[in-house]
Amino acid sequence: MNCTKCKTKAVIDLPRHNAAFCKGCFTGFVHDQVARAIKSEWMFGKEERILVAVSGGKDSLALWNILLKLGYRADGLYVDLGIGVYSEQSHAKVTKFAEAVATSHGATLHLHTVEQEAGAGIKELAQLIHRPTCSTCGTIKRYQFNRVAIEQNYDVMATGHNLDDEAARLLGNVLHWQEEYLDKQGPSLPASVAGFAKKVKPLYRLSERELAAYAVLNRIDYIVEECPMAKGSKMLQYKEVLNRLETESPGTKQTFYWGFLDKQRKKQPTAITMTEKDRAVLHPCASCSQPTTAEVCSYCKMMAKAKTVVPR
Ligand code: AMP
Ligand code: FES
Ligand code: ZN
Repeated sequence: MNCTKCKTKAVIDLPRHNAAFCKGCFTGFVHDQVARAIKSEWMFGKEERILVAVSGGKDSLALWNILLKLGYRADGLYVDLGIGVYSEQSHAKVTKFAEAVATSHGATLHLHTVEQEAGAGIKELAQLIHRPTCSTCGTIKRYQFNRVAIEQNYDVMATGHNLDDEAARLLGNVLHWQEEYLDKQGPSLPASVAGFAKKVKPLYRLSERELAAYAVLNRIDYIVEECPMAKGSKMLQYKEVLNRLETESPGTKQTFYWGFLDKQRKKQPTAITMTEKDRAVLHPCASCSQPTTAEVCSYCKMMAKAKTVVPR
């Protein structure tokens, strides 16, 4: 198998693109896909400051690496969830990578530790406040990503969601006809109201397999294990189903998700309504000022509850 571009020996084949690449051309292909995503979805420019949420996994570390290589101003944010060995190991991977890019690009790493603010790690906290771990975790991560971006004056916040993540989420939203979530599932969400950072997903054109290959070929040391709390989750089930379809018909995930984005783009007036809708229902949280539909936001409610039950 030879590289489609330069005809030397290929190291990876990409059935959905009907192509194969050597290491150099594959790295170029990945960078190109990210550059195309940034441009076509108006994500950010070279002058803007980007905050990348890094979990220690392949996607987010690859994203931070790619943005710096493409010449963007990108810093990192790690949220330490306090999930035993898993968090210790992911924290170590993030720190190691951050030290390297601090030296090579002057990039900075921000850190938020759940235990410091909530008095307990995510598992214990969820049990104490009687909520599922993953939804507690989702609320905390979303809140902290936005808070750090706003407080530290970043123009945009980026996550490492890839094509597999987005196609699986789309499948879930379609199966349950969650129209409100469908409206907001794009790779670029504007800062609809003051207090909300713009949010982007520059890896939506790349699959999980392609990002794993990129990380390995570019010697990015990442945590291979998934979060232990995610075992048996609906998301993993949707991914499995989509992978089976992809094996039979390469390009299925791309057709599914990119097709959805095409349809969304053609529905321009709805995008405007979404911002207008946000403006109509969101106002500052009475406790922390972050936008919310309720009097007090769900994060502040959660922390208030934690204070009453977590022994200090
Ligand atoms: P996940 O929801 O675990 O698939 O993660 C999706 C994206 O959220 C990752 O690619 C990261 O950008 C970000 N992320 C997940 N967990 C963390 C974390 N603990 N700290 C910072 N960013 C995270
Ligand atoms: Fe949030 Fe696992 S519970 S990453
Ligand atoms: Zn609040």
